[in-house]
Amino acid sequence: MAEDLKIITGNKAEQYDSLIPQVKGLLDGESDLVANLANIAAALKEQFGWFWVGFYLVKNDELVLGPFQGPVACTRIRKGRGVCGSSWEQQKTLIVPDVEKFPGHIACSSLSKSEIVVPVVRNNEVVAVLDVDSDQYDQFDSTDQQYLEQIVSLIQF
Ligand code: SME
Repeated sequence: MAEDLKIITGNKAEQYDSLIPQVKGLLDGESDLVANLANIAAALKEQFGWFWVGFYLVKNDELVLGPFQGPVACTRIRKGRGVCGSSWEQQKTLIVPDVEKFPGHIACSSLSKSEIVVPVVRNNEVVAVLDVDSDQYDQFDSTDQQYLEQIVSLIQF
């Protein structure tokens, strides 16, 4: 059973270093995908307070909204569209310091200013993406990329 999440202050790496063992604890012994994605989104939102944190799942060649924390969001995204669809198509993490400068960015909310999207790749195919949005510009860097890629690698699909 989940305990309360321990929220810490500190630099970004310190926050991730505190969070990752707790995420492992949340996933340990639970095989339900939706439950695990929901808890990861909640843990990230609680620790970092980002504007929007959530997953889109690949279903019938589209991304479909999955568990998330934050305001209501677009439900379906096609391959190559927006930051999420581009991350899926390119099979790589995309960091966008200013979403208005990303061609084709899908504005689910005008409050979103910067974004990171991390693909979840299994057997060489993208099965989902983790999308994190901030209401401030330039909030994501290679530290987020490294740790968020580590977090999505923990998920059993
Ligand atoms: N901005 C994303 C769409 C998803 S929402 O931000 C939750 C994109 O361009 O793919």
